[in-house]
Amino acid sequence: MTNPYEEAFEQSMNDPDGFWGKAAEDCHWYKRWDKVLDDSNKPFYRWFTGGEINTCYNALDYHIEQGRGEQLALIYDSPVTDTINKYTYTELRDEVAKFAGVLKAQGVEKGDRVLIYMPMIAEAAIAMLACARIGAVHSVVFGGFAAKELATRINDAKPKVIVSASCGIEVAKVIAYKPLLDTAIDLSDAKPGKCVVLQRPMEEAAMIAGRDVDWVEAMASATPADCVPVAATDPLYILYTSGTTGEPKGVVRDNGGHVVALKWTMKNIYNVDPGDVYWAASDVGWVVGHSYIVYGPLFNGCTTILFEGKPVGTPDAGVFWRVIAEHKVNVMFTAPTAFRAIKREDPNADLMKQYDLSNFKALFLAGERTDPNTLHWAEDSLKVPVVDHWWQTETGWAIAANCLGLHVFPVKEGSPTKPAPGWNLQVVDANAQQVPAGKIGALVVKLPLPPGTLPTLWENDERYLESYLEEFPGYYKTADAGFIDEDGYAFVMSRTDDIINVAGHRLSTGAMEEVLSDHPEVAECAVLGVDDSLKGQVPVGFVVLKAGVTKAEEEITKEVIQMVRERIGPVAAFKTATVVKRLPKTRSGKILRGTIQKIADNKEYNVPATIDDPTVLVEMEEALKGIGYAGARKS
Ligand code: COA
Ligand code: AMP
Repeated sequence: MTNPYEEAFEQSMNDPDGFWGKAAEDCHWYKRWDKVLDDSNKPFYRWFTGGEINTCYNALDYHIEQGRGEQLALIYDSPVTDTINKYTYTELRDEVAKFAGVLKAQGVEKGDRVLIYMPMIAEAAIAMLACARIGAVHSVVFGGFAAKELATRINDAKPKVIVSASCGIEVAKVIAYKPLLDTAIDLSDAKPGKCVVLQRPMEEAAMIAGRDVDWVEAMASATPADCVPVAATDPLYILYTSGTTGEPKGVVRDNGGHVVALKWTMKNIYNVDPGDVYWAASDVGWVVGHSYIVYGPLFNGCTTILFEGKPVGTPDAGVFWRVIAEHKVNVMFTAPTAFRAIKREDPNADLMKQYDLSNFKALFLAGERTDPNTLHWAEDSLKVPVVDHWWQTETGWAIAANCLGLHVFPVKEGSPTKPAPGWNLQVVDANAQQVPAGKIGALVVKLPLPPGTLPTLWENDERYLESYLEEFPGYYKTADAGFIDEDGYAFVMSRTDDIINVAGHRLSTGAMEEVLSDHPEVAECAVLGVDDSLKGQVPVGFVVLKAGVTKAEEEITKEVIQMVRERIGPVAAFKTATVVKRLPKTRSGKILRGTIQKIADNKEYNVPATIDDPTVLVEMEEALKGIGYAGARKS
């Protein structure tokens, strides 16, 4: 006896054209596709070639046509400014059309890039949808990045226009965005023609005459712009994510496959219907924000919530329950770290008892593995299914999940359950040979990837091939290691590269090492992610000083910490560094990061056979104890 999940999975494998073609019938097209899956240029697969579509039309206008014009499309809930603003589908469409007119008036045309550097305000979503409306390609940059990171993204995307705001609010701190933006533009060699800036009352930004345009003034005189048809394969957005070097990867998302796949996930994975209220407590700067604050819920005719606050401190650990109760949220999506923050402040979930959560049906977690403690705490206090699902910026939606709209499988701790339909997930060894059930290997996906995933990296096919397709020919490399058990459940254990996940934020330790090595007194360094009870992982840096350095070690560590903050941004959460005499290395000179990490996390480790000099491990242990690791930590 098969269940609907198995049927869907089988069909998606054996007849992808039939499966995704049927899902595409549910979307609005100006011109129907010629081919569902176009494999004429392997390994570059494209979906819905020949089709013409508009993402914004599918998100807004389509629902107005279907009679949802008066239904709420977006609720902006901001405990940090004490504001709640609600937009119906008609109101949101009108704002978006007006802002699309603003962009057009600034010279933005189909295919032009628009960079969006904004905090969690409704205008960020409005700007994204406005780009989609006129076929421009948006690139949203997370607010916690420093000016230099922003400059790198400006250089790569070469935006015609940048959209920003005067400031963001981090709990009680006002973060001025505009000076960061001005510095980034100074640092970049691809200067935008114009910047549209929303002035927020908490911090007015100084405007540069001739370049900066005031959002409110521009909107007042804007001519609304209509949706333009674009090719299904045209890019909708570029989202930069950490790669293994300081150069971030520009993940590209196309229009057609994205609409089809995300709309399909809303019912089949999240089990929400049009009219339901869906809340992804993330940030529009991350892929979760793109897929599930803005696009997915709107494609499906849901009400989405855009929350400008934190799980704790805005004002307390009950704010998630307040939002769920007040807006009658049906399904929520966040990162496990947010729940760990709440659990730490309110271990018995006492604050939850003040709220009516009767509309709440399910909690989805992603960004990092859900640890059993957090899983059970959430299950026991919320009394709804808690679903750990696994995905990446590159994939745009879940590779593995308990697909609540298809079939509910029993939960296994530490597993995001089974591959979602469309994902031929396998575990292979270094020779790309499949390994038996239960054995750890590289998690890879047999090509083609389903619609809605990355077709390439922005203007860099070569890096796309090299990063994802070359190591295991015929497969997409997730860069996660793990296994699939006898029952077909996936387990994601660790990254196989230098990426770490800090509070659900993806960061590259390699990029931090590049910063540390720029310090004039540093001879060599290593940065690695160590376990953290709140953020999952945090980066810790080790520096070896050049011979003859007389500066105090403490001063140097302070300086390298400050350098990471200035060059990468506060989001790196790089707060600990220490000076060591030498680093453990293999005889061929490779730093033994894995061994240092195990010592830091107080885990058992084998002295690597290839180590140059094992006595260095004792020194490392001492150094780690000195900064509160290797078993020295109290909490
Ligand atoms: N703009 C400017 N600064 C930002 C920022 C933004 N959008 N987001 C974070 N920062 C800053 C923070 O203020 C903090 O600065 P500080 O060093 O001056 O204190 C720093 O970056 C690190 O932030 P973070 O790692 O988020 O730590 P935190 O202690 O502020 O908060 C959590 C911890 C767990 C409450 C918070 O990370 C959280 O809510 N996480 C949810 C994760 C999430 O949404 N992930 C997305 C995938 S689902
Ligand atoms: P990002 O691109 O920021 O979404 O980060 C993607 C990475 O986060 C993945 O490659 C995994 O390493 C990790 N990740 C995301 N979700 C999960 C999960 N549910 N379980 C385990 N790891 C996860």
